Amino acid sequence: MTAVDLDAYARDGFLVLEDFVAPSDCDALQERAAKLVAAFDPGPTRTVFSARDQDHARDRYFRESGEAIRFFFEEGATDQSTAQALNKIGHALHDLDPVFDSVSRRPQFADLARTLGFRQPLLLQSMYLFKQPHIGAEVGWHQDATYLYTRPSTVTGFWLALDDADRDNGCLLALPGGHRGPLRQRFRQVGNDLVTEILDPAPWPAVEPVALEARRGSLVVLHGLLPHASAPNRSPRQRHAYALHLIDAAAEYPADNWLQRPGRPPRGFM
Ligand code: FE2
Repeated sequence: MTAVDLDAYARDGFLVLEDFVAPSDCDALQERAAKLVAAFDPGPTRTVFSARDQDHARDRYFRESGEAIRFFFEEGATDQSTAQALNKIGHALHDLDPVFDSVSRRPQFADLARTLGFRQPLLLQSMYLFKQPHIGAEVGWHQDATYLYTRPSTVTGFWLALDDADRDNGCLLALPGGHRGPLRQRFRQVGNDLVTEILDPAPWPAVEPVALEARRGSLVVLHGLLPHASAPNRSPRQRHAYALHLIDAAAEYPADNWLQRPGRPPRGFM
């Protein structure tokens, strides 16, 4: 298994593990995503996924995506084909699609979760992220625990580069050590609405952001409280990635989290 520097993870809140999966696994996920997209008929209206505008949050299509395979478009997409206009696919690829299931449950992921301290890991959510050439949108600074909240916080992101990700095509950015600060916001259900609640108004720490450049097949591990973002992709190169989010079954999962899986409870690696 790739060496895991737990001291660096505790200090920084992230790890970049090179060559974590085989190129054949990257091929398999990219080919499978292309097939899913080819079979997807968006119909007359495209459901936009925008990181800035939360209007989509009222959409049932988004709300039910926690236990489905749903397709979300780039805000900046105009005349592009569907394959060139999608922002992401989410959020239960790892449970509903056999290829994503198989790669997501590779032993190296299970071993890594154990090494990071998970006792009862649950694969809560997965996303195929396109970051399209020229139009791939920025993702603003956030903590994943805002969206995937447990008490205590246990969410951890496994972000797998399916293309080389660098400063030009919108790689991840992080504030090193920022995971040691508080959770700032929580995105949750209030009645029929999804709202962003301020938990702590503390600003992000005044540290220089670092670019988490990752070659194809590398895995970026993100602590659930680490502030991270990504810049828009203005380059002609796509930046596909596959993100898997784990929580620990020992923690409480509130009933007012946006992501609910009543019909298909999350499973572990088995
Ligand atoms: Fe994130």
